[in-house]
Parts: sequence; C-alpha cells; structure tokens
Amino acid sequence: MAANFPDGFLWGASTAAYQIEGATREDGRGPSIWDIFCGLPGTIANGDSGTVACDHYHRWPEDVALMRELGLGAYRLSLAWPRILPEGRGAANAKGLEFYDRLVDGILDAGIEPWICLYHWDLPQALEYRGGWQNRDTAHWYAEYAQLAVRRLGDRVKHWATFNGPNCASLKGYGDGEHAPGIRGRASALAAIHAMNLAHGLGVAAMRAERADLLLGNIYNFRPHEPASEHEEDEIACEVLDALWNRSFPDPQMLGRYPEPLATEMVEPLVQPGDMELIRQKLDYFAFNHYTRSRVRRDPDHPFAVGTLPPEPGRPVTAMGWEIAPDAFRQVLIEAKERYSGDLPIYVLENGAAFPDQVEADGRIRDDDRIAYLRRYLGAVQDAIAAGVLVKGYFVWSLLDNFEWTFGYSRRFGLVHVDYATQQRRPKDSFHFYAELAHGAGLERE
Ligand code: GCO
Repeated sequence: MAANFPDGFLWGASTAAYQIEGATREDGRGPSIWDIFCGLPGTIANGDSGTVACDHYHRWPEDVALMRELGLGAYRLSLAWPRILPEGRGAANAKGLEFYDRLVDGILDAGIEPWICLYHWDLPQALEYRGGWQNRDTAHWYAEYAQLAVRRLGDRVKHWATFNGPNCASLKGYGDGEHAPGIRGRASALAAIHAMNLAHGLGVAAMRAERADLLLGNIYNFRPHEPASEHEEDEIACEVLDALWNRSFPDPQMLGRYPEPLATEMVEPLVQPGDMELIRQKLDYFAFNHYTRSRVRRDPDHPFAVGTLPPEPGRPVTAMGWEIAPDAFRQVLIEAKERYSGDLPIYVLENGAAFPDQVEADGRIRDDDRIAYLRRYLGAVQDAIAAGVLVKGYFVWSLLDNFEWTFGYSRRFGLVHVDYATQQRRPKDSFHFYAELAHGAGLERE
C-alpha cells in the first residue's frame, strides 16, 4: 500500500560548494580553511582534497539536467565565501559572483527552486589568519558577506540558510580539531559557538535589511544521544554532548538562551551585553540535517570529556558506521516541533546514507541498501507528519557522490555515482526510486 505525502510536499537534494565544485584555484577564488587543512599530512583519507571534487564548477549544466530528470522541486547549494570574497571581506570577485549567477539561472530555467546556504564550513583562510571563528569580528565580516550575496542573488533566491551544521563546524573545527581549521580546545570551541551564533543573528538582520521578501533559517544537525552505560560519568558526558551537539545553536537562536550545562561558561567577556538579543532573530522555517543516533561515554582526552561508541553489535549500519535507526529520526522530528519550531514549517535539509556502491558490468548501480534506507527514513517522516509535525519538505544528501570531508572520496552518498577519474555521472537505482517519489508516487512502506 503506497502512502502519499501531503500535497505540495517539497522534494529536494542538497550539496555543498567545497564538496562538489572543485576549481579551487580558478577565476579568483581564494583559499578556504579546508584547502589548507587538506594540505596538512594525515588529515584526509588517501590525501584527498576538494581541489577537483566533482568539477561542478565546469559541469554544472550536466548536474542541473540530472536535477531536472529527478523532478526536484528544490535544490540546496552552498556559496563558497572565498569564491565571492577571496579575502573574506573587501573587494568582491566578479567571476565568483558570475558563476553563481549562471548556476542560479540554470537551476531556475530547469523549473527548480534554488535554496542557498551561505556557510558550509569553507571559511576564507584570510579570515582564519585573523582569528577565524575565535574572533567575534568574523561575525561582522560574515554579515557583510551575507548582505553582498543577497544583494546579488536575492531577486531570484528566496530561501536562505545562514549556516549548515554550525555545531559540526564549531565542535570539530575548534573543539576536537578533526575538521578544518584543526584547532583542539575548549575555549576555542566555545568562542566559535558564540561567534557563529552571533554571525547568524547579524547575518539575518543584514539580509532582512537588504530585502524584505526572503525566507530565512539555519540548518541544525540533530541526533539523539544515550549514555553508553549507567555509570554517572557516561550520563554526565551524554548531557554535555547533547547540549553541545543538539542545543548550542537552536537554543540561543530560537529560545534566546544557552542550554545547561553550557550556560555557565557562556558569560562575559565571551558573551557581551546585547549579544543574545542579536542572536535571537525571527526565522521563517526550521530546518535540520539528521543521520543517526549516538552512544555517549566519558572521554577524558576530549576537551569536553565526551566521546561516542559505535552502535551495539548487530545493529544495522551504513558505510559511515552510523546506526540505521529511523525511530531516532521520528523522535528528532517530534522533538523539533515540541521544543523549537511551533507553527514554523520544518524542512529536512539533509538525510541519506553512504554504502559501498559498485558499478556493475551492465553499468547499473543496484544500491538496494540505499533505497531501503530511504524507504525507512521517509516512512519516519510520514509517521511524524501523521503525529502533527509540519514537515513540508525533504532534501536528500546528496545529489552526487562527493568529497566527504576527512573520509575524502572513500564514502559515497549520492543518488548519482561519480567516477572521479573520468567525472562520468551515472544515476544509481536510488536515483530512479527518488525520481518516482518526486514525481508524485506514494511510498511503499515495508
Ligand atoms: C554534514 C554535512 C555534509 C556531510 C553529510 C554526510 O552535516 O555532515 O552537511 O557536508 O557530507 O552530512 O556526512
């Protein structure tokens, strides 16, 4: 029995500039912290980087044609801040702006609504030299960048997100140091959390000052946490990581306060008078990414003494080692409504799975495991909608296989397989499964 999604449900797909564009030294683009981080020995699997990626900078017409074939209602891209402002601030790069002009026009010509994320982790390295997200001035440079982007593209792009996964960008970039710029520390992470929150608030205000017809939001990343044992130290670690990962951005942005136990450290001089009011801006939609849930233990070596354990033996996992747990997705959707979104529309702006896809002799990629994953997770969306959650759209991660950060190109999330040696695109079986849904077919529930 095929279960239908509500009329007007928005089917999308998401990508990110550094993960697909390539052309990192072309047409005036400046270096980002990820260009530098990838150049450090041992940071990225196989020494990979986003230097070429999917060569989307040149092949975007072909990729837009794939979006059209999918029947997408919307496509979420991110702008590369260093392609638009090579120094992070000051003089804009005309060729960078022209690229996004052409791309946005191409997406619109395909009858698809472009959604733009302003920050998907690729801070201009020039700003990192000035302290990066440990320097609250970066929040003001971010607002200038946001205003410039909206001034150029806001006539054609209405949905904008300030940040993608700011929790990941701050905690992994300035906390455990596993992501760019590779800084490990507690104070550095707390400073980055606050500066990104401030940037969100200043950016929303700057965009609204530029245009009154925009629909603005942020893209959080939610995952349920549970203690790995009943030991108090694991329970405390779980409370800390839940506050850091799930609440350090939506709580100040939607509720106007930092969550306990973080709040005790988010005080002057880090948090200055007026900051919290600036951070809490009216938003037009509530969006987040979701993949899995985590088991949390105390890790004394971590700056916040938090760590995670792999799923219990025997639990189904993806190629990332993430547990396949659609019940956790339903829980996150319901909690998002209860805790934050109220009457705002909810959009899932990333969900998907990596599996070891193989191109078979006949050229097909029979990714039944990804189809099964999507069927179960979309079933969780239907259950949440039935429970009264205003889910208005789902964007799969990702349109294309792409640069999966520290995993390099060793993990494939795309509906479209990319042969990085030839840049040949091959739609996987999941592409056709998703296209049927986007064209209005109901979901066959297991
Ligand atoms: C994230 C990022 C994406 C990842 C995707 C798979 O939320 O981690 O937005 O860039 O590639 O989530 O890990």
